[in-house]
Formats: sequence, structure tokens, C-alpha cells
Amino acid sequence: MNPDVLVYGAYGHTGQFVVTEILSRGLTPVLAGRNPAALAKMGLQHPTLDIRAAAVNDLDALDSAMGGVGVVVNCAGPFLDTGLPMAAASIRAGAHYLDISAEQAAVQQIYRAYDKTHDDIEGTLIPATAFYGGLADLLATTATSGWEATDTIDIAIGIDRWWPTPGTRETGRRNTATRLVVDHGVLTSAPAPAPVREWVFQGSLGRQRMIASPFSEIVAIARHLNVSTVRTYLTTSALDDVRNAHTAAPTAVDTTGRSAQQFVVEVLARRGTAQRRISAAGQDIYAVSAPLVAEAADRLLNRRANDVRGATTLGEAFDARDFLEALSATHLTLKYE
Ligand SMILES: NC(=O)c1ccc[n+]([C@@H]2O[C@H](COP(=O)([O-])OP(=O)(O)OC[C@H]3O[C@@H](n4cnc5c(N)ncnc54)[C@H](OP(=O)(O)O)[C@@H]3O)[C@@H](O)[C@H]2O)c1
Repeated sequence: MNPDVLVYGAYGHTGQFVVTEILSRGLTPVLAGRNPAALAKMGLQHPTLDIRAAAVNDLDALDSAMGGVGVVVNCAGPFLDTGLPMAAASIRAGAHYLDISAEQAAVQQIYRAYDKTHDDIEGTLIPATAFYGGLADLLATTATSGWEATDTIDIAIGIDRWWPTPGTRETGRRNTATRLVVDHGVLTSAPAPAPVREWVFQGSLGRQRMIASPFSEIVAIARHLNVSTVRTYLTTSALDDVRNAHTAAPTAVDTTGRSAQQFVVEVLARRGTAQRRISAAGQDIYAVSAPLVAEAADRLLNRRANDVRGATTLGEAFDARDFLEALSATHLTLKYE
């Protein structure tokens, strides 16, 4: 398979982290997106890389942009607008498809369109390969390893500050779909108003006020784990940051471009009286999405994936614990209990 990785939305905030991460792994990114001027500007920093401009509603341009690439990484959101057309073009090109969607409805569209029973699909499609979505799915898959059935999975996302990008704000406005949780083993509408509770994080965040906030990890987990109840909670202060129109966009505090934002994601899984807790901590939720998606691209290109066809999840497609451990040296601090 061709080792080139097309990054769509390459000049976006997260797209730029992804391009850097792909390069650091010795793979070759192709810079893509809908804005030729923004691509040309980015190309000045990367004069050896190919640049391909195409809008998601221009099938011919998309098909020609994807010619010869092995993996497409879609970083252009809202994914309710870009997910399906980009996934379809990837499959037509014979490439694997990855995206970084936090939107449950966009992820479900791809699961439905590329069901595992489609034997004719050559590539693998993994939406939600990012901080929201894939990271909690990897943690939950690791925590429940060896259990045939799990009673509850609680996911606690602790963020000290959330400086949202324009893409995050636009996605929040666009994503009006009813949020889903898992109850009695099936996806169902999240309770309204969103429940509030406390969570005591193991690290420096300590005791936090949390609000139920289901993201794409819920639909990813529901796709492959046998679990009765799944809930996600987010620090209320982080949600307040995003809802405040005056909160600034992220600014870099180190040479890699990361903001000062600290995060920890804890997953608590219960089966009867047994309980397992696992957490991943790090810096900057946008930046950490890059190693998640690049690790997936690397593993798909080097055939270090489980034998799953069509649309799948990070936890189902790969050895979840091994995947997390691969990121633990540089990007994540893992704790098991
Ligand atoms: N799951 C996660 O943890 C996670 C992490 C990071 C980001 N995300 C998501 O990723 C998306 C991008 O976030 P960001 O932080 O990189 O935002 P950003 O810096 O504002 O970049 C947004 C990118 O998306 C492109 N785009 C938007 N709508 C498009 C469309 N219809 N067709 C083609 N390109 C389009 C933009 O291109 P133009 O400039 O040409 O409009 C730009 O390249 C958002 O949906 C965000 O929620 C999710």
C-alpha cells in the first residue's frame, strides 16, 4: 500500500499537529483542504510535500486529490459536513479513512454506511480517532479486557481549561443532534437536563464538579463492547469555557505548539463486585489527537491491525493496550488500578 497520508484540513489547528506528527514518523503527508491559498501558505514551510486542493462536494477534484494515497486523515470539521463525502472518496481511492470527529451523529453515519458486513470494502474506516472518541474507547477496551460482559463504564474527562478553536465552536453550533448514552446495552437519548455529579481524580485535578457530556466515545464503545451502561462526564468549568464567547483560542506555550491545557481521562469499569480504573493524562487535547491519529495510520499502513472490515473503532481495530503504551513515552501518562 502507498505510504502517503493525505491530511485533509491540513492547515487547521489540529491538522497542523497531525502533519508534524506524520512527518516525525517518517511517513509522507500530502497537504489537502478546500482553500488553495491556505494550502500554498502552508506549503512554504514544507516545500517538498504535495499540495492538493479539493472541496468536499467536488467529487472529481476529491478523487484526483486522493490518487495514490494509502490513508486519508480527515481533520476538517464539522464532520457532519465532511465525514461521509470524505469517507466515500477514500473508499473509492482504495485508501483507509480516519477522522477526528467528536460528533456522535457524524460517526454513526459512517458506521451505518460502511457496516462490517460489506465484504466489498477494502479499506478500514475509523472515525473519532482523537482525544474525544478514540482515547476513551482505547481506555475502556483495555479496562474491560478479558470480560465478556461489563455492567458499567464511567468516563471522566478532566480538563483544567478549554481554549476552543474556531472549528470547535463551529462544530458545537452545527451539532444539534440528540446526544446518546448506553442504557440496558443499547444507545438511547441522554437524560435531560444533563446530570451533574462529583468525581475525584487520582492526580492533581482532585475533586471536580462534572456534567454528563456524551461525545463520540459512547457510540464507539457501543459498537464493539458488551456493556450495559456507559456515561461520560466533563468538568463543568471546561464546558463553561467553551460556552463563553469570550474564551480565547489556544496559544502555544512550548516549541511543539501545545497550549498549557492539562487533561486527564479516567475510565472506571465495573463487573459485579470487580472494578478496574485506568487513566491517561497529558497536555493539550488538540495536540494529543495528532499522535492518536498518526499511530492509527502507521499501524494500518504496516498491517498491525486486527482483521476488521469496514467501519470500526480504535479499540476494536488495534491491540488497545499496546496502542496506548506506544503513546505513553511521549504523549500520555498512563495509570492502571
Ligand atoms: N475528537 C476530538 O478530540 C477533536 C480534537 C481536535 C479537533 N476536533 C474536531 O476537528 C475539527 C477541526 O478542529 P480544529 O481545532 O482543527 O479547527 P480549526 O483550526 O478551526 O480548523 C478547521 C478546519 O476544518 C476545515 N473545514 C471546516 N469545514 C469544512 C468544509 N465544509 N469543507 C472543507 N474543510 C472544512 C477548515 O478549512 P477552512 O479554513 O477552509 O474553512 C479548517 O481547515 C472540529 O470539528 C473539531 O471539533 C476533534
